[in-house]
Amino acid sequence: MLSQKPNLSSQKIQHSIRDQSFYLQDVSVDFGSIQGLRNVQLSVNNGEVLFITGSSGAGKTSLLKILTGELEPTSGEVILPPKSKFVAPVFQDLRLIEKKTCEANMWVSYDSSVHGSKKEFQKELNELARVFGITDRLNMKIMNANGGLKQKVSIVRALLTRPDILVLDEPTSSLDSTNAQKLYDVLNFYNTKRGLTVIWATHNRELVKRFSGRIVHLDRGKLVYSGHACFI
Ligand SMILES: Nc1ncnc2c1ncn2[C@@H]1O[C@H](COP(=O)(O)OP(=O)(O)O)[C@@H](O)[C@H]1O
Ligand SMILES: [Mg+2]
Repeated sequence: MLSQKPNLSSQKIQHSIRDQSFYLQDVSVDFGSIQGLRNVQLSVNNGEVLFITGSSGAGKTSLLKILTGELEPTSGEVILPPKSKFVAPVFQDLRLIEKKTCEANMWVSYDSSVHGSKKEFQKELNELARVFGITDRLNMKIMNANGGLKQKVSIVRALLTRPDILVLDEPTSSLDSTNAQKLYDVLNFYNTKRGLTVIWATHNRELVKRFSGRIVHLDRGKLVYSGHACFI
């Protein structure tokens, strides 16, 4: 049975020493008799906004977990970004603290070595809350928050870590199209201004069709398309 624990000392996983992002060579993942990923070839450039599409069960989450090092490939080679690059994941379970407020959950990202001061962090937090339209709900406990608010809190929390790479698994599943567009705009802004690399998995083909950039499409564990969204 495959261990889902990160095993970065594995010979199958190396860290890139060049200034590149991810590189997957012939990567397969088996869950017992189920093939999660089959011979996937993928490289992700620094500063890219990449969508990973595919229907439910296509292998999107498995691929993202390979990229974040949470999952080890059964076979193939994985080269992850150098350890100096900070990868922030936003997975579907969100990993929020239920008893704490939205704002307190965001403060989990505070790191005195990254943020100049608490004041500076608070300013960034307030600005992101404003952009996502959740300022009036910052004091709400997560246990009372709806799915959309939880999703926004976990995205803000991830952005507050000032990551080099943001990995998002179905981040708009509880958001309407206006909020999904807003998220795209915010991430595009971070991409343009700060060089943030964005890897965004979604099964919503309609959402992706409106966006530029590269998409990678998975079908039953196989990477069957890599190119512009307009051709899919
Ligand atoms: N921990 C697991 N144990 C067994 N099967 C799994 C596990 N995780 C994923 N799978 C299977 O692997 C395939 C790909 O799943 P997943 O990567 O979650 O796809 P997606 O995110 O596109 O819905 C599916 O058939 C799924 O049932
Ligand atoms: Mg999934």
